[in-house]
Amino acid sequence: MIIEKKKLKNGFELPLFGFGTWSMGGRDKKDPLNDDKADIAAIRTAIEIGITHIDTAAWYAEGHCEEIVGDAIKNYDRTEIILTTKVPPMELHYKDIICSAKKSLKRLGTDYIDIYVIHNPNPYIDIRESMEAFDYLLDKKLIKYIGLSNFNVKQFDEAQNSTDNPIVCNHLHYNLKHRGPLSDGSIEYAQKNDVLIVAWRPTQKGFFGLNDIEILNKLSEKYEKTPIQLAINWLISQKNVVTISKSRNIKHLKENLGAIGWEMEKSDIALLQNNFPDTVNTVENITLAKLIQPE
Ligand SMILES: NC(=O)c1ccc[n+]([C@@H]2O[C@H](COP(=O)([O-])OP(=O)(O)OC[C@H]3O[C@@H](n4cnc5c(N)ncnc54)[C@H](OP(=O)(O)O)[C@@H]3O)[C@@H](O)[C@H]2O)c1
Repeated sequence: MIIEKKKLKNGFELPLFGFGTWSMGGRDKKDPLNDDKADIAAIRTAIEIGITHIDTAAWYAEGHCEEIVGDAIKNYDRTEIILTTKVPPMELHYKDIICSAKKSLKRLGTDYIDIYVIHNPNPYIDIRESMEAFDYLLDKKLIKYIGLSNFNVKQFDEAQNSTDNPIVCNHLHYNLKHRGPLSDGSIEYAQKNDVLIVAWRPTQKGFFGLNDIEILNKLSEKYEKTPIQLAINWLISQKNVVTISKSRNIKHLKENLGAIGWEMEKSDIALLQNNFPDTVNTVENITLAKLIQPE
């Protein structure tokens, strides 16, 4: 299947749906009991089906997740894969970023990262110093684009004002239930400033399918789509929003991909926007704990 892309005015583009890898190879630490072969197979299956954007992070399983991704992609045409990886927020000094990027490249078995992302903002390190390192990595062609993750509007703006290169995306926890990026203006900012929002946790770990939610049940009948497909479709119906989801389970992956290639009526998008129950409208603060604990 060909997954449609969203393109910014500056030329940067991402598929509507990409593959996440959080918890592959372990969580915050490498898990010696993890079935790495199953993770590699799941990534390869996703690629075979048509997924090209793969999201990982140096933090995941202490870098082992990147090794799994590297192994999974090694026999594919590198130019067909869009690799995102992230530098941990404790490594945002100039030299640390360059060192971290080089380690990621080695673990991923590649000579460039498509989108290199700051995993979380770090209020203790001057973003101007970090952006200088990103400019260097761009200049050396070790990365193709700069991205951010979990940055609020003010933090994003500060980062963008620290480099002449476009910051092309902001990864945010955003789904039908978690509306922080809408209420804090991040979605509007992205739409006005030519930035893509990469919505992480689109299924809320399967929540939309595991719970009996009346509004989703009704629309499920109308569109003959599952609640999870509706939830993902609602995300990608929005200007400048794409998403990434992780699944080891091929049935889940196929279900999630069934969210693509059709549209809800505007009135139903608005219904989900306005009437979904128990939405969380705040953004989690990046506490010190978030600076040392990945996700
Ligand atoms: N930048 C950040 O701070 C940040 C934070 C969190 C995540 N991320 C990235 O974003 C990616 C997506 O987030 P996520 O993995 O939490 O999203 P998610 O896809 O909403 O949740 C993944 C979990 O939901 C399950 N799942 C997926 N599709 C399902 C379905 N159709 N029915 C039932 N269960 C389903 C998966 O289980 P199975 O494996 O069994 O299918 C997995 O346990 C991550 O993998 C990671 O790469 C980034």
